[in-house]
Amino acid sequence: MTGQVVVVGSANVDLVVDVPRHPGGGETILGGDLRRTPGGKGANQAVAAARAGGAETTFAGALGTDESAELLLTSLERAGVRTDLVSRVDAPTGTALITVSPDGENAIVVAPGANARLELTAAQVERIAHADVVLAQLEIPLGTVRAAAAARRPGAVMALNAAPSRDLPADLWDALDLLVVNEHEAADLAHTDGTPEDLAKVLLERVLAVVITLGADGSLVAERDRPTVRVPGIRVEAVDTTGAGDTFCGVLAAGLARGLALPEAARLAGVAAALAVTRPGAQDAVPTAAEVEESSR
Ligand code: RIB
Ligand code: NA
Repeated sequence: MTGQVVVVGSANVDLVVDVPRHPGGGETILGGDLRRTPGGKGANQAVAAARAGGAETTFAGALGTDESAELLLTSLERAGVRTDLVSRVDAPTGTALITVSPDGENAIVVAPGANARLELTAAQVERIAHADVVLAQLEIPLGTVRAAAAARRPGAVMALNAAPSRDLPADLWDALDLLVVNEHEAADLAHTDGTPEDLAKVLLERVLAVVITLGADGSLVAERDRPTVRVPGIRVEAVDTTGAGDTFCGVLAAGLARGLALPEAARLAGVAAALAVTRPGAQDAVPTAAEVEESSR
């Protein structure tokens, strides 16, 4: 069975520098050589869904008409993502300024550019209406996320990776089926602190299913009317965590689109995200289905 995934989201060129530590305000530090690599939460998730296999993945996003747009299209296409519905707008392609410290942690500033202009076209709405899973994040206008949710067919899963963190309006909560967040985003949305189980319980009052990613500790899968389960993680040597959460989301979406239950999809997503952490870059670090399979044994 081949499922259909549509990722509605951002694409950025990532300008990455390795640093001994992240600079503070007013501080100048020297880093390593500049790398220019394909990124953006939406495009990263589309690449991850496509590499996971078992589903056909379309990226619905907006690029400029600059050289950065070509870099992103090449990366998406190489991963097998359908790019026929990507919008081209009169704005620079999104850009992210990223520093990576020796422990693999990053600090990111995004200049949205074309991403801020993403409005769904009739053809994108049509593709969304045929999708099994629609996956969005928050680097694009909220109105576009809303439009994507409204366009999906009954029975399809509307999934939101609520990153970067921000509050969600009530109507958007109502339009979601699945929320995927890390612990910080979960606490922000739940307006409280607590264990992942506590946070999931609060969030389940607003959405049917929640996955909270827990880094090396795996993830927590909480669904209404089902027992909440912890999916164990695997420990890896962190090189660059950039895009690991996106890898998780994309692989999760592909798994759901081919009919896996949420905990099993989260297990594969966790393995893929762990592998992504061991390699530099965002899209460049996304493993193939074969690599995930190999590491699952
Ligand atoms: O989630 C990682 C991504 O966040 C990076 O690729 C960067 O472009 C920002 O969107
Ligand atoms: Na990485």
